[in-house]
Amino acid sequence: MIYLDNAATSFPKPESVYRSVDEAARWSGNPGRSGHALARRAEREIEATRVRVARFFNAPSPERVIFTLNATDALNMALKGFLQPGDHVVTSCLEHNSVSRPLAALAQRGVTFTKTGCDGEGKVDVEALAAAITPRTRLVVLTWASNVCGTVQPVPEVAEVCRRHRVKLLVDAAQAAGHVPIDVQATGVDMLACSGHKGLLGPPGTGLLLLGADVDVSPLREGGTGVASHLASQPDSYPQRLESGTPNTVGIAGLGAALDFLVQVGIERVFEHERQLIGALWEGLAAVPSVRDCGPSGPDGRVSLLSFNLEGWDPIEVATVLDQSFGICCRAGLHCAPWAHQALGTFPAGTVRFSVSYFNTLDDVEQAVQAVRALAAAGRR
Ligand code: ALA
Repeated sequence: MIYLDNAATSFPKPESVYRSVDEAARWSGNPGRSGHALARRAEREIEATRVRVARFFNAPSPERVIFTLNATDALNMALKGFLQPGDHVVTSCLEHNSVSRPLAALAQRGVTFTKTGCDGEGKVDVEALAAAITPRTRLVVLTWASNVCGTVQPVPEVAEVCRRHRVKLLVDAAQAAGHVPIDVQATGVDMLACSGHKGLLGPPGTGLLLLGADVDVSPLREGGTGVASHLASQPDSYPQRLESGTPNTVGIAGLGAALDFLVQVGIERVFEHERQLIGALWEGLAAVPSVRDCGPSGPDGRVSLLSFNLEGWDPIEVATVLDQSFGICCRAGLHCAPWAHQALGTFPAGTVRFSVSYFNTLDDVEQAVQAVRALAAAGRR
C-alpha cells in the first residue's frame, strides 16, 4: 500500500509515538484531579508536552497552549470564544469548512464577515484583504496553507496588515504545522490553530490552540478543571479557562513523542524531503497531457500536497481506481473546502489530492505518477 493521504491524517506515525501511546494507556491516571502517583505521572506528561509545543512554535508561554480535539475544535474555540455580536471578520475564499461553517453559525448571532479572493495559483490578495477591514473588524482568519491546492499564504504580510489596523489574526495551520517552520511570535500571529495528527505526526484526537499574550478567549465549554474547584464559574487562568473535563492523556503523550521526533529530525529536513517528493510528483504529473493541476504553477510555494484532475474522469472515480487497482490511498472530492474549490474553478466535482509526509519515498510518488499515467492511457470514462 502507498499512503498519500497525509493531509487528512498522517500515516505511519513515528515508532516512538506508538510506544508512547501504548505506555500512556497503561499508566494514565486523571491529571490534576488526584495526588496519587498515576495522576501525577499523567500531569507531568501533559505539562511536558505543553512545554514542547510552546518551544516548537515559539509560543509566548506554555500556559497559553490549549490542547483540543483537532484543528476544527481549536478554530471553533477561537472564533466563538473571541467574537461578539456586532464584530466583523475578514477571511479568504480558501478556508475549510472548519472556518466557513463556524462563521456561518456566527452570522446568525450578529457577526458579519467578508470573504476575500485569491489569484489563479490560490494565493490570497493581501491588498484586497486589507481593503476589506472596516472600523468594526476585530479579526482576520486565514489558512496558512490551503488543504486543496497547498498554496502557502503570505501570513507575515497579513500579520503586518493586522498589526497596522489593530486587528487580531487567527491562522489555521492544519496543513502547515509540521511541514514548514512556524514561529508565532516572530510572525505576529495572535492565535494559531492546528491538528496534532497531521504534519505533527501525533495520534488522532489531538489538536492545538496557541494564544498570544494579549488575546482573550471565552470558554466554549465549562466544567471540571482540577483547580479552583470552589469557584462557581470557570477559572480565568489559562489553560484551565479553555480545558475542561478529563483530557486525552494518551493522545497528548503520543503528540509529545511526535514533537520530539520532529525536533530530532529537524523541520528543515522534513520540509526539504517533502519538497523533493512534491517536486517529483509535480513534474511527473505535468508530463501527462490530460492532467490539470491546481495551485502554484510549479512545485514551489506549496506545502506537501498537490491536487489535480484527469480529463474525462470524475475525481472520486480516479481515487477509487487508484485504491482498488494500485493500492494507492489518496483523497478526492471537495476536501471539506467548497469555498476553495469554487475559487479554483473545481467545484462541484473537486479534485484528486496526493499528500506526502516525511515517511514517503521517491518510489512512492513515482508509482503514483505511473498509476495516473496508466489511467490517462486507458482514456476517458
Ligand atoms: N481537512 C482534512 C483534509 O483536508 C481532513 O483532508
